[in-house]
Amino acid sequence: MNILLTGGTGYIGSHTAVALGQSGHEVTLLDNLSNSDTAVIDRIAQIIGKRPSFVHGDVRDTALVRELIKVHSIDAVVHFAGLKAVGESVAHPVDYYANNVQGTVSLLQAMQAESVKSLIFSSSATVYGVPQYLPYDEDHPTRAINPYGRTKLHVEEILHDVAQSDASWRVACLRYFNPVGAHESGLIGESPRGIPNNLMPFIAQVAIGMRSELQVFGDDYPTPDGTGVRDYIHVMDLAEGHVAALDYLNGRPGWSAINLGTGQGYSVLEVMQAFERANGCAIPYAIAPRRSGDLAAYYASAEQAHKLLGWSAKRSLDEMCASTWRYYQTGV
Ligand code: NAD
Ligand code: UD1
Repeated sequence: MNILLTGGTGYIGSHTAVALGQSGHEVTLLDNLSNSDTAVIDRIAQIIGKRPSFVHGDVRDTALVRELIKVHSIDAVVHFAGLKAVGESVAHPVDYYANNVQGTVSLLQAMQAESVKSLIFSSSATVYGVPQYLPYDEDHPTRAINPYGRTKLHVEEILHDVAQSDASWRVACLRYFNPVGAHESGLIGESPRGIPNNLMPFIAQVAIGMRSELQVFGDDYPTPDGTGVRDYIHVMDLAEGHVAALDYLNGRPGWSAINLGTGQGYSVLEVMQAFERANGCAIPYAIAPRRSGDLAAYYASAEQAHKLLGWSAKRSLDEMCASTWRYYQTGV
């Protein structure tokens, strides 16, 4: 199939381009390069032996998206494009609604006009909010607790309305848990601009000497070692989840929400120790106050993904750490 990846030069988009390319799909990447650069395209080409098509542009440019759907004979869209920093979304909610919600509406207008009605949307476990029980399954009530999360929830609801209105739409909202790691080659990975917000890139930057120590945000949570627990998923497992979701959508109209996680939670200290073990290095750390807005623990029920998509995550926490380190050592 011919697949359009909005936000395709970003972290998850680039790994998914590899997984789709290796499964025989043709991929076209659309990106405004607000949080990525074009160097990744050569690297994808190096891995899959074929250069994906790239269009520099904004998903909110409906006319451009219509044109590229026609020119590239697009059959389905995976919609990654969006802003994703929680703190920034609290400070600049209008930017977040404009990019994430308006961007999706514009994409839907283009798709509708060109009669392309298969869509995978990058949603997030953040839509669940404070856990009422764990693991989160897809029936857990949704109540996002910050503007970023609410953009994801609004988009899921918009997509639900669209699928209800017209039975030829096929929509899967994939609720990612905590994607980490890099492609096994070390050629592509996650390069956050500025100080990383997330744990794994921060650990990697301490390991490579860019930062002196990891601040562990809180050691007094009601978890086994007192530090926060999350469901980390290798980005290549996540990418392969998209390939499975595309197969699933084929011929199956309607809307669905599916968790992409491993079902296994690890604490901050466990991740840090896994990184030290996998890469033979020491990570200096200090206990710091809790980060505002953080939850103590959450992890996925991965049953629905297994049942519907026939997919489950395969790669271990050590592989997540080893691939992150390999990527950092390539000097990217
Ligand atoms: P990323 O920032 O690396 O990738 C997003 C890409 O979208 C970037 O390349 C950026 O330049 C592009 N982009 C942003 N706005 C655009 C626009 N208006 N038009 C065109 N391109 C635009 O982020 P990522 O980690 O790859 O995340 C991809 C998607 O997955 C996002 O929607 C994010 O909210 C979602 N998600 C990410 C995580 C995570 O931890 N990384 C977790 C849950 C959900
Ligand atoms: C964060 C976002 C979430 C988003 C997810 C994507 C917030 C409040 N939440 O979640 O919406 O979907 O990223 O991956 O920003 N930690 C440290 N020191 C650090 C960084 C993190 O101790 O320098 C701890 C955190 O307190 C947390 C764990 O590591 O317990 C994971 O943090 P992070 O990688 O930022 O992910 P989330 O908090 O799950």
